Amino acid sequence: MVDFKQLLSDRVRETEEIIQGFLPKEEGHQRQIMEAMNYSMNAGGKRLRPLLLMETCRLFGGEICEAAPFMAAMEMIHTSSLIHDDLPCMDNDQYRRGKKSTWAQFGEDFGVLAGDSLIVEAFAVVASAFDTTRYPKRAAKALQILAKKTGIYGMIGGQVVDVQLTNQPIPKEKLDFIYRLKTGALLEASMVIGAVLGGAGEEEQEKISRIALNVGIAFQIQDDILDVTSSQEVLGKPTGSDEKNCKTTYVTLEGIEQAREEVKRLSGNAKELLASLPGDREFLEQIIHMLITREK
Ligand code: IPE
Ligand code: IPE
Ligand code: MG
Ligand code: MG
Ligand code: MG
Repeated sequence: MVDFKQLLSDRVRETEEIIQGFLPKEEGHQRQIMEAMNYSMNAGGKRLRPLLLMETCRLFGGEICEAAPFMAAMEMIHTSSLIHDDLPCMDNDQYRRGKKSTWAQFGEDFGVLAGDSLIVEAFAVVASAFDTTRYPKRAAKALQILAKKTGIYGMIGGQVVDVQLTNQPIPKEKLDFIYRLKTGALLEASMVIGAVLGGAGEEEQEKISRIALNVGIAFQIQDDILDVTSSQEVLGKPTGSDEKNCKTTYVTLEGIEQAREEVKRLSGNAKELLASLPGDREFLEQIIHMLITREK
């Protein structure tokens, strides 16, 4: 059996190197916006989404050079969502990834613009990939998924309902909807894009999408738990943010214990589905397991 921690650290390093290659140069009169974009991109983070994209692509025998631009784009879009999520008009949080959040460091105007720029840059990176890809049809499908799962039918749509229902009790079905979109959508897109680029068939893509949705909802519930049980030193972002903003979460709705059970149940579903796929799934399985036990 491979040493999971070692492999994880190697693969995260590989992911970091790939992302670095796509970051904008800090130059020109607009230099400060590139600095603000790179500030948050370089602040760290678990790099879970590009990692899952790469590993799912690998699972189906795909080449990492095909996945690379999509990995960078996915991390840019995810980072943009965090930058905007922290703004005073949203969750009003001052720390992210162990540093001042982008708006707290560069001002609110730059927070808005850095988030916007990262989304656009992500699609610019993916558009450029069409010059080199050996599989333009796969890349086109991946691009469609990326756009759909970023926008009103995905992450942004989820954030919309999340902010609309702030300060209100939310029934469980609606909370599920929010989690499926605000967090599930980008995780789903990461794994399905990896599958598409790796050459997976329709049925396999469908399975991957279900695996990722289970992982996505479990991931957000664990995030809610950590918001109550962890500390800023460990998380690199403030705890108590949900309470401060009067958010209904799985924890407020069902209590910590029930929320923990739900994370286990959803991750179990994901692992079971993964077991029905061919290929070397061990590393992906361990990543999913890590998400249940994660402390940050
Ligand atoms: C935080 O995502 C926002 C959620 C969707 C819960 P991550 O916990 O993946 O944040 P980073 O990328 O590691 O900073
Ligand atoms: C936001 O959920 C998920 C995003 C799309 C950014 P949270 O508001 O709980 O994320 P954190 O806790 O600030 O990372
Ligand atoms: Mg939020
Ligand atoms: Mg937040
Ligand atoms: Mg949170």
